[in-house]
Amino acid sequence: MRKIVLSLFALSVLAACGGGDTGSGTNPVAAAETPTDPAYQKGLELVAKSDCLTCHRIEEKLTGPSYKEVAEKYKGADSGKITELAQKVIKGGTGTWGTAIMIPHPALSQEDAEAMVKYILLLK
Ligand code: HEC
Repeated sequence: MRKIVLSLFALSVLAACGGGDTGSGTNPVAAAETPTDPAYQKGLELVAKSDCLTCHRIEEKLTGPSYKEVAEKYKGADSGKITELAQKVIKGGTGTWGTAIMIPHPALSQEDAEAMVKYILLLK
């Protein structure tokens, strides 16, 4: 009997440690729920190693709009809009969200910039 009680206790401890909270808090660029879209993972990696996070966060506005605001604004964006936003990341720009300027990222390929935009638009 004692043994059963002990192992039940051990199980509940394990469950308490293993459950919930994956991803929130520890990684500033990952969404709480990981979308299954393959572009998400690729975009996440690219954003994490580029300079995007000096001006953008998922939840807060810094120099640039938060990625959640961007995802909200372009909800349901078609591939044309994604191409256009990727161009803006590459060329830089201003005027859509205010007077702050996004610096250009000429080293990014169109394909990589589109993966980053797709990742951002999945952050809802
Ligand atoms: C120097 C600061 C800065 C950096 C670095 C930066 N951004 Fe921005 N970003 C901004 C600002 C400011 C805006 C708002 C521009 C505007 O109002 O038109 C913006 C807007 C955006 C938008 C929305 C564009 C639109 O037209 O609504 C996307 C998408 C975006 N950034 C992605 C990125 C990605 C991806 C990176 C990294 C490769 C990046 N940004 C790096 C400052 C920055």
